[in-house]
Amino acid sequence: ETEILYADPEGFEDAVAAAVGKLDAGEVVALPTETVYGLGANALDEDAVAKVFEAKERPSFDPLIIHIAQRELIREVCELSPELDAVVQQLMQAFWPGPFTMVLPKKSVIPDIVTSGQETVAVRMSEHPVMRAICKELGKPIAAPSANRFGRISPTSAGAVEKELGGRIPLIIDGGACNAGLESTIVRVELGEKRPELHLLRAGPIVKEELQKIGKVIRPKKPKKIEEAPGQLESHYAPSTPLYLFEKPEDFEPDPSLSYGLLSYRGAAKDGYIDLYDWDVVEELSPGKGKLPEAAVRLFFALRQLDESGVDAIVAESVAETGIGVAINDRLRRASAKTRNA
Ligand code: TXA
Ligand code: MG
Repeated sequence: ETEILYADPEGFEDAVAAAVGKLDAGEVVALPTETVYGLGANALDEDAVAKVFEAKERPSFDPLIIHIAQRELIREVCELSPELDAVVQQLMQAFWPGPFTMVLPKKSVIPDIVTSGQETVAVRMSEHPVMRAICKELGKPIAAPSANRFGRISPTSAGAVEKELGGRIPLIIDGGACNAGLESTIVRVELGEKRPELHLLRAGPIVKEELQKIGKVIRPKKPKKIEEAPGQLESHYAPSTPLYLFEKPEDFEPDPSLSYGLLSYRGAAKDGYIDLYDWDVVEELSPGKGKLPEAAVRLFFALRQLDESGVDAIVAESVAETGIGVAINDRLRRASAKTRNA
């Protein structure tokens, strides 16, 4: 009962019209972006937004990102002092459209359900042509969290969305595989004394080195209560299969009664992981040279493959902690949190 409509890059008017029709009618639709697929709803329609929480089984304390079609529209959803506006302009010029989300004071048009009652709202402008066309045509912001059930692996293809939410939502727009592969970088923007302060709430494709050109990058302290710091849940992006994350191959002590799948960064090229054990399945993120952006694009896809392969446990190696490697390691750590704490 979930329809999948292909948005042909050569002409996707029909897919856009179908999505806008549903969104206008207060329905939810899964939509492609350059990072991961989102489950979209008209952000100004509380009942529609409630359906997003319901389909994802997402707790109401975890707020949603809204997507806008044009930079200027940020002033309609965010309350910006002239000083803050100037910083926001710089950030938008540098990173929009793209995998970058800003948390800013909200205007009252944004319903409380979107922001879980917070006075701030997370805003992003996607680069994906289909998402942009849908946002523009709808003429309203689209609230869209990743299109997975809560806590699970984010979908980077229409097929993955179907596995997560099939039967629960009326329509999936298939815009092909996501080409960034990891969710957007999220920063809370504040003025600061000398330079703007960019509080990094989630590492992502826009890396620290790029953000530092515009402001001081601050890593928030670990929250005491999750309700006070949404988005920083320790366990997230988790496969159903237990996942063990290792820094060094020597740390792996196999249980001979179990079958293991390996999530390898560079394949056989460098590290000892592949020869370490007689793995049932191996997924390589960037065989040979080890390119972090390629690994980022493949990460969620490879994790899904391993999860579906039927092995008893997944072993993952961490990657270099530089550039987008920071975001990859962040996702791997959260994917392994449940297993670690079990
Ligand atoms: O790349 C992305 O950002 C994707 C695509 C679909 O745009 N979306 C996405 O949404 O990853 P979601 O809901 O899976 O993650 C959004 C994160 C959540 O962890 C949420 O807690 C945090 O953003 N967030 C949203 N509003 C916030 C706010 N006002 N303050 C702090 N964190 C917020
Ligand atoms: Mg998510």
